[in-house]
Amino acid sequence: MKRFICLGIESTAHTFGVGVAGSDGSILSNAMRVYKPEKGGIHPREASQHHARHALEVVREALEKARLEPSDIDVIAFSIGPGMGPCLRTGATVARAIAATLGKPLVGVNHSIAHIEVGKLATGCRDPVVLYVAGGNTLITALVEGRYRILGETLDIAAGNCLDSFGIAAGIGPMPQPEIIAREGKRIHSLPYKVKGMDVSFSGLLTAAERLLEEGAAVADVALSITETVYSMLVEVLERALAYLEKSEILLVGGLARSRRLVEMIRLMCEDHQAKLHIVPDEYAGDNGAMIAWTGLLYYMAGMTISLEESHVRPRARIDEVDVRWSP
Ligand code: FE2
Repeated sequence: MKRFICLGIESTAHTFGVGVAGSDGSILSNAMRVYKPEKGGIHPREASQHHARHALEVVREALEKARLEPSDIDVIAFSIGPGMGPCLRTGATVARAIAATLGKPLVGVNHSIAHIEVGKLATGCRDPVVLYVAGGNTLITALVEGRYRILGETLDIAAGNCLDSFGIAAGIGPMPQPEIIAREGKRIHSLPYKVKGMDVSFSGLLTAAERLLEEGAAVADVALSITETVYSMLVEVLERALAYLEKSEILLVGGLARSRRLVEMIRLMCEDHQAKLHIVPDEYAGDNGAMIAWTGLLYYMAGMTISLEESHVRPRARIDEVDVRWSP
């Protein structure tokens, strides 16, 4: 069977990434530039301008690393959402331009699904309950009857955003700083723990932690309290999903998959349930183009291409909107 090659473009938030993947499961390259705000959180328009400035050099780098010419590419994929509108539009514009110039088909990939599919590819897990945690997303999901069903999610801000914002407010910087500083802390503060059914809420927790800082509490102590509270909430919901669905694998994806303490806590829970824990490798944990390229191939081989006219971005796309036709 012919090996198809896909060039995938990621641009939902900080990262402008371009990856190249083959339909035999090979990742041929994974190039990126990451926008770093001078202070505070991400500014969508500035990030999109950063992406536009670096787009061409990242595309070139991805092709060079893969040792391919543009004419070797069979399909172009891009992140269609969820994400920040201005950032998504930059990636989509670059993808449309390449697809139109080369006369190749276009695929609009759901960003959350791409995190999961690259995790499955890299770890070899088959039918996991997935925890996707990052700066912009907090989702517990599993593939049930052809769709990634939302089992639990955040009701307000993402887990990563909560910890990043705390770190910035404390003057230590975003993750992993709060977790590193927390190792020197004592757990003397109790913070609001909000699990509602299968959903979690972090904004009240962040406000309470920031108030403790204002009152002069030691940063390390508050860092320990907030990280442990966030992770405990995630593990509680994940454990319930695992037990309810009677699955035997967990897959951890997204930027917070790099968190050693979160991994340690999930591992303990998995031991209790004789479940196997799979963790996406660091290089594919954060946003990256390779995950879009690989998932683009899954879409493409399932016939899920889109026309230029249908290729508008979807900042609020949900994971359960997509028919996962490539999986049994
Ligand atoms: Fe992401």
